[in-house]
This record gives sequence, structure tokens and C-alpha cells, in this order.
Amino acid sequence: MQHLYSSRSHLYTAMIALIGHRRSLKRFFQKRNMLMSGMTIIDAGCGSGALTRALWELAQEQHLSNVHFFGFDLTRQMLDQFQSWIDRDRVTNVQLLQADLLNLPPTPYSLPQANIIVTSGMLEYIPRDRFVEALKNLKSLLKPDGRLFIFISRTGWQNNIMVEKLWHANLYSQPELQTSCHSAGLSIISLKSFKTWGFAIELREDGPTIA
Ligand SMILES: C[S@@+](CC[C@H](N)C(=O)[O-])C[C@H]1O[C@@H](n2cnc3c(N)ncnc32)[C@H](O)[C@@H]1O
Repeated sequence: MQHLYSSRSHLYTAMIALIGHRRSLKRFFQKRNMLMSGMTIIDAGCGSGALTRALWELAQEQHLSNVHFFGFDLTRQMLDQFQSWIDRDRVTNVQLLQADLLNLPPTPYSLPQANIIVTSGMLEYIPRDRFVEALKNLKSLLKPDGRLFIFISRTGWQNNIMVEKLWHANLYSQPELQTSCHSAGLSIISLKSFKTWGFAIELREDGPTIA
């Protein structure tokens, strides 16, 4: 997988520019109007930065202050592309880290806990039998009352070709996602279709059970 994104990092970035991936993500969060000054936001499997950049632009447009962004990804080549934007635009509040969601560095040394965690197109690459573990790792980075937003490809013939065959990724149905989130101790606030390819899921940590 790391090899795939090392050799195809530019192809991937060109493809998402073509389909307006960043614009769609930005519109999704614009409607929710949930960013606030002082927030910490983590983009897990940030790749070349589409999701962080969408949120960063919103924070700028809303004149928010002290918003700290952290992005981590397994693949150096993807992070290098993200870093080029940071350098070019002299961005000072985005920090990048090469890390594996399945083997996270201990908090808070490299990654802090976050008010918002976002992840797009990444959980598809987690081996199926470690999917719940990956969700639990994301949950471990959430502050109490934090929110996790997952954008993930769904089952369907188009994705069977585009996502499974071309990008060697796993696809999940809605019931599979619901069961996995539940097993990871996450409550679904909303689960909706996102564009033609996926689901957008908003989650929070399960609250204490009332006897
Ligand atoms: C389809 S790209 C998505 C990039 C970006 N989130 C976006 O929306 O454009 C998938 C990314 O997930 C990263 N990735 C896959 N498995 C990972 C893991 N276990 N830990 C961290 N990153 C991972 C890959 O290196 C790749 O950059």
C-alpha cells in the first residue's frame, strides 16, 4: 500500500483535483459550521492534504485564531506534496508526521488529543481484520466530547472497479460500518451518502452506560 501511494502520489493528487475532492469536503464542513478558535484538528491518513486544506481555508475565512492542525500519513511522498503547499503558502499552524494508524506514536509527544479528527479515503487500506482496532486508535486521539468524521468508500459496482481494482482498497457496506463503529465504542451521530462514492459518518465516543 505504501508502495502504491509512493509511486502514484502525483496521479492521486491530479485525480482528486479533477473531481473537486477538496471543494466537496469544504462544502460538507461549511454547512456544519462547527469550527471554533483554539481547536486542535487531526487529519489521519492526510495524504497530500485535501481535507486539512479544506478545513484550514474555512478557519481562515471565519477569522478563527489558534486553530492547530496535525496531519499524519504512512507515505513520505504524500506528505512531501502536502509539505510543498505548507512551504509555498507559509502556513504556520499545520504540523505533519509520518505515522501508521495501526502503530501510533504515544500521545501527547507527537500527536495531541483533538477536538476534531477527520479521515478521508484511508480506512479502506486497513486490513479488514484490523478495522475495529484502527477505529479504536482514532478514538484514543479524541478529546472528551470530540468528534470524529470519516469519509469512506462504499460498496457498489463503480467502486469495485475504481477503488478495489485500481487502488487495491477494501469496501464496506453501511451495516458493516455500523457494526464496526459500535464494536469500537463509537456512537454514530449521523451517517449519510457522500458524493457518488462514499459515506460521511460523524461519530463521538460512547457515553457512560446508565444502569
Ligand atoms: C486515498 S489516500 C487519501 C488521502 C487524503 N486523506 C485525501 O482525502 O485525499 C489514502 C492515504 O492513506 C494513507 N494510509 C494508508 N494506510 C495508512 C495507515 N495505516 N496509517 C496512516 N496512513 C495510511 C496512504 O498513505 C494515503 O496517503
